[in-house]
Amino acid sequence: MEQLMRNFFLFLSKNKTLTKLAKKYGFKFGASRFVAGVDIEHAARKIKEINNDGFVVTIDHLGEFVDNEQEAKESADECINAIKKIADKGLDSELSLKLTSLGLDISEELVMDSLRKILDAGKQHNVTVTIDMEDYERCGKTLDIFKELRSEYENVGTVLQAYLYRTEEDLQDLNDYDPYLRIVKGAYKESPEVAFPDKKDVDENYKKLIKMNLLNGNYTAVGTHDDAIIDYVKELEKEHNIPRDQFEFQMLFGIRIELQNRLRKEGYKMRVYVPYGNDWYGYNMRRLAERPANVMFVLKGIFKK
Ligand code: FDA
Repeated sequence: MEQLMRNFFLFLSKNKTLTKLAKKYGFKFGASRFVAGVDIEHAARKIKEINNDGFVVTIDHLGEFVDNEQEAKESADECINAIKKIADKGLDSELSLKLTSLGLDISEELVMDSLRKILDAGKQHNVTVTIDMEDYERCGKTLDIFKELRSEYENVGTVLQAYLYRTEEDLQDLNDYDPYLRIVKGAYKESPEVAFPDKKDVDENYKKLIKMNLLNGNYTAVGTHDDAIIDYVKELEKEHNIPRDQFEFQMLFGIRIELQNRLRKEGYKMRVYVPYGNDWYGYNMRRLAERPANVMFVLKGIFKK
């Protein structure tokens, strides 16, 4: 049943008509459990509070699968706007973005041009930019773009997904680039041709990748809410004397807040991924797929006046 619900929400997450309707008619964003606000002003206020509580942040202007150039350019402008806001308000925040929001499905040239502008702004204001990983179809292109930019910029990172068979090889390949990597389980619906269908195998591969990346000496952001994975990272830390400034935990805004607090109190670097904007639909559907029990929270949010 859980798997059926998961597939249902992942199917919904890619529905373009529903995405457009959700953007147009929206809902009261204060009521959303997973989104920090409708615009950068709201998000900046929220980030200040999160920083004051002792967490660092990565901010994400929601948007994906953009299919027209104007919208793609607006997304890029919004990323630069967010970087400037981080600097103006003295926020402790990085930036995360999705390449399809910058027009990956329209033109690679457009994406590279926008990324360079965003990374220049990040460099100027000391803000690191992480390129989120989207579905399998776009994984190879995303990594090629990351590698090209990594030779030009210090302040760029990307994400690897433990559910993909290809990731172990990608991780070794990226080792030459001194990469800043977030490693996650993976949030999209993928075929068993390219991704482990069983959660148990994803979890085992996840542990393997974290260990490899840490022992390669690379900075590792562990993006998970899973106690077993977090405990495993703590064991690795002890067993291999991994310095705490070589890794951090990352969790999504609004999810497992008590666990976020516990890790912070134990002295770990804890980064919260804070999305904002009106393109909340695909993001929220993937959160429901991860945990269908969240459906009640989201429904309450949608219908709350
Ligand atoms: P898992 O799904 O096994 O959950 C473990 C436990 O965490 C659950 O039992 C539950 O208690 C809790 N939990 C998990 N999800 C929850 C939810 N939505 N609501 C409430 N509780 C929940 N993916 C991707 O493909 N590309 C990307 O770029 C990113 N980026 C990213 C950044 C950050 C900071 C995080 C934390 C995650 C991502 N992800 C992602 C999403 C990731 O791939 C994955 O889908 C989710 O993190 C859920 O997997 P967990 O590792 O948390 O474990």
